[in-house]
Amino acid sequence: MPVITCIEDLHRIYKRRVPKMFYDYCESGSWTEQTFRENTSDFDQIRLRQRVAVNMENRSTASQMAGQDVSMPVALAPVGSTGMQHADGEIKAARAAEAFGVPYTLSTMSVCSIETVAAATSKPFWFQLYVMRDEEFAAALIQRAKDANCSALVLTLDLQIIGQRHKDLKNGLTTPPKLTLPTLIDMATHWRWGLEMLQTKNRQFGNIVGHVKGVDDISNFTKWTRNQYDPRLDWDRIRKIRAQWDGPLILKGILDVEDAKKAVEVGADGIVVSNHGGRQLDGALSTIRSLTPILDAVGDKTEVYLDSGIRKGQDVLKALAMGAKGTFIGRAYIYGLGAMGQTGVTTALEVIQKELDLSMAFCGRRQVTNLDRDILQIPKGFE
Ligand code: FNR
Repeated sequence: MPVITCIEDLHRIYKRRVPKMFYDYCESGSWTEQTFRENTSDFDQIRLRQRVAVNMENRSTASQMAGQDVSMPVALAPVGSTGMQHADGEIKAARAAEAFGVPYTLSTMSVCSIETVAAATSKPFWFQLYVMRDEEFAAALIQRAKDANCSALVLTLDLQIIGQRHKDLKNGLTTPPKLTLPTLIDMATHWRWGLEMLQTKNRQFGNIVGHVKGVDDISNFTKWTRNQYDPRLDWDRIRKIRAQWDGPLILKGILDVEDAKKAVEVGADGIVVSNHGGRQLDGALSTIRSLTPILDAVGDKTEVYLDSGIRKGQDVLKALAMGAKGTFIGRAYIYGLGAMGQTGVTTALEVIQKELDLSMAFCGRRQVTNLDRDILQIPKGFE
């Protein structure tokens, strides 16, 4: 068992363990990847203020997100095809989150279905919805999330159209993967991954395949999906979805103050300041740079969360101290999952919690619910 000290350790194992095409699918941003890179590097520009001779005993990372108690304010973000990173990946991530006491968000584009994950877990998880052209299907998905007792709906707004990711095009990434010589070699050289995949029944996109007329297996799934992201999405449609869901509604993919205000107007209980991990508009600001004006505009009206670029507990600490109510992580837990399955997700959460807890203490604070900008040195462009 290797000694894991940080998320980067998990990343290195993950890279070796999964086929290159799935690693690249995760570890890429759109076009030049500028936003993807800056999401992470911008966190490093904010510095923490060390304090000494302050009582650091009895610390707590516990908080609340969307009215739910959490052991730390770090939810697992929705990640499509998680079940291709590790067999039954969604179930493993959901179980790890449940045991750790943080929310798990299941993607519309998950391999394991809502029902499969619900049957494998005992606490409610969150469901992420993409806005589909087929309104009936979207309504049916919302109903399925209700039936599965999902405790929040995360509606993603920044994927009406899909950003171009060069690596996926070059790898010829398709669903299902085309069996060409390079993809066969890729899978054969990652035989442990392949063996585990062969042992599970969950290899389809379970929220969709079998639930849409004409989409009865994975071969006709891609064509249907490609035409289903709705480029016409507008605030009226979001209002309609609001009316269909009684529980907490979180709007994800907000990067602009005007959109944040609109989100409040349509009744969002929370928003995620997110650029989809740098996978959509390349050249957009990093999320940590976008946060302050959004907080100033709507921070007292809705819960403001942040994702994109978090690789350390110190990043979480900075986002919280800036004023975010909570954070989401995507790749940081996918590295753990791909590296070691459920244990790897737990390890990723443990690493982040420890970094958060100790760094908070070094800053002279004992509770994540009692953080403010005094513990930060914030450079121009972030304030
Ligand atoms: C995503 N993300 C995403 N978001 C969403 O709402 N639905 C989805 O199905 C997906 N799928 C997806 C796949 C992969 C491989 C990645 C890396 C990301 C975006 C995700 O929820 C989150 O916003 C980012 O992952 C946050 O950035 P970091 O933490 O990965 O840097």
